[in-house]
Amino acid sequence: MKSLPDKIYRRLLRPLDALYYRFFAGSDSALSRRLAAGVLAREQRSGRGDVPQSQAQWDEQYGGGEWDFLAQLSELPRYAVIAGFLRGLAHGGAILDVGCGEGILLRHLDEGQWSRYLGIDLSTSAIDRGKASAPQGALFEVADAEEFQPAELFDAVVLNECLYYFHQPVAAARRYYQALKPGGAMVLSIFSGRRSRAIVRQLEQEFPPQEAFEIRTLRGRWMISLYLSNPR
Ligand SMILES: C[S@@+](CC[C@H](N)C(=O)[O-])C[C@H]1O[C@@H](n2cnc3c(N)ncnc32)[C@H](O)[C@@H]1O
Repeated sequence: MKSLPDKIYRRLLRPLDALYYRFFAGSDSALSRRLAAGVLAREQRSGRGDVPQSQAQWDEQYGGGEWDFLAQLSELPRYAVIAGFLRGLAHGGAILDVGCGEGILLRHLDEGQWSRYLGIDLSTSAIDRGKASAPQGALFEVADAEEFQPAELFDAVVLNECLYYFHQPVAAARRYYQALKPGGAMVLSIFSGRRSRAIVRQLEQEFPPQEAFEIRTLRGRWMISLYLSNPR
């Protein structure tokens, strides 16, 4: 049986939160900011939705194997598409993988497809796993992507299923775009949920991609956006 708070959430608050995401998310008004704080606090308390979490929460989830499914067949299409873009647009180049988790993307890249790989992630546990299984030369670093300042430029920047965990996703996307070499490519992959759809709408208005694609599988829908530092 569902607990009372869960019932209240589903019947009353969830529809209200959905209204927030549909009509207010991303607006800079005072009302929108107040609503945003309430929605975020509720989602963080209830563990619902893809919302910002603490390093300790991420570590606990990785330690408990909650993200092991990322290596399963259902996830393969988006890694394959991202790997394809990297092959076509930044072959043999330097790659920054933001919110890299345990670096599963690397398993989908061929030998010689990168000359430098730097993965950053908030979770120490994910980064430890990444380091343990990484091919030689791949670098992993624990860092908060909303504060990390890249010290170099990259041929490709990947934000694969991490943007909606940031407090300021559009600002983060803009900032990582600045870390591209001329002719470089930034790839964003975003699983379709109510928060992420609001983020995609915001991105389309404030920082439109040069190209966008959709992947559908039995598990859900992903939107993949492509930003080229010098549009081709
Ligand atoms: C759904 S996982 C995706 C992992 C990886 N990109 C992949 O697709 O295999 C989301 C990742 O974002 C990371 N993350 C969340 N907030 C972050 C932040 N502020 N800075 C860096 N990483 C963050 C989490 O620790 C987690 O590893």
